[in-house]
Amino acid sequence: MALLELRDLEVSFDTNDGVVNAVNGVSFDLAKGRTLGIVGESGSGKSQLAFAIMGLLAKNGHARGSVRFGGQEILNAPPRVINPIRAMKIAMVFQDPMTSLNPYMRVCDQMAEVLVHHKGMARAGAVAESVRMLDAVKIPDAAGRIRLYPHEFSGGMRQRVMIAMSLLCRPQLLIADEPTTALDVTVQAQIMALLADLQRDFGMATILITHDLGVVAGFCEDVLVLYGGQVMERSPVDPLFAEPAHPYTRGLLRAIPRVDQHGEELDSIPGSPPNMTRAPKGCPFAPRCNFAAEDCHDHLDPITEFAPGRWRACNRKVEELA
Ligand SMILES: Nc1ncnc2c1ncn2[C@@H]1O[C@H](COP(=O)(O)OP(=O)(O)O)[C@@H](O)[C@H]1O
Ligand SMILES: [Mg+2]
Repeated sequence: MALLELRDLEVSFDTNDGVVNAVNGVSFDLAKGRTLGIVGESGSGKSQLAFAIMGLLAKNGHARGSVRFGGQEILNAPPRVINPIRAMKIAMVFQDPMTSLNPYMRVCDQMAEVLVHHKGMARAGAVAESVRMLDAVKIPDAAGRIRLYPHEFSGGMRQRVMIAMSLLCRPQLLIADEPTTALDVTVQAQIMALLADLQRDFGMATILITHDLGVVAGFCEDVLVLYGGQVMERSPVDPLFAEPAHPYTRGLLRAIPRVDQHGEELDSIPGSPPNMTRAPKGCPFAPRCNFAAEDCHDHLDPITEFAPGRWRACNRKVEELA
């Protein structure tokens, strides 16, 4: 049994302009300790997929399908089921650390509170463990700096504090949603290296959500490419980079900044993501796809395994994408 099993997950939102279909039938398994990258342009449904797993959708959102964690159904589960899992077993790290840190509390108080509340630890032990966790995320002078308020840390250090906080209860699954997008490039690389170390040391399964396919290369074992709330391609990371099997994946690959292309214009994909209020009947990528034929605007063949462990949703055969 996989640690996390998604089946036909759908997320929609009621709005004044109609229903927004943000996630449209996503299925995947994530085994214990594995790393999965979820990649797609802005608006492709990545964050709402994560929020649905966590039971954190906005009030106007609805989720359907199935999400099983350790064999237990958690989608739309009552608070008595989802709250302990959210506190102890699945942790989430966001782009903006201030969504999880309380600006008015010293870091020591908010970290210790987690352990006192969820693990029943005594205050002194909880603070000591919090210092150890700040050490683990390589915050210099952790014992001194744990007394500071969140705003007294730099952006990169604050992201480390949030990561430390998310790991306090030793979660089995970490979901990191664009954890480095707000940081400058050097700090980004440091945080990704740190996450990779922590993932290895703690052995937790990790979902890394990013718009940048380049970020998953060094971190993830598997990749899921999302577009218009649907899985376009799913594959172990190496073959996906060597032989991308979907026109959208190829577009994302061409958009990765490369050192040897310094100064040159990046090859971004022409056109823009679909308006999810009028969910397309056919392939969501068809309007921007160089390989689209008439049938693509009309229907999308179900996702199929075209090579061992590699899945794609595309009406054209891989050979046709020459
Ligand atoms: N509360 C909401 N009400 C209506 N639409 C929403 C709401 N939250 C997100 N959406 C829409 O859901 C779609 C997917 O959003 P999201 O998952 O945040 O994308 P991303 O891949 O950039 O993380 C977008 O079209 C977004 O506008
Ligand atoms: Mg997002």
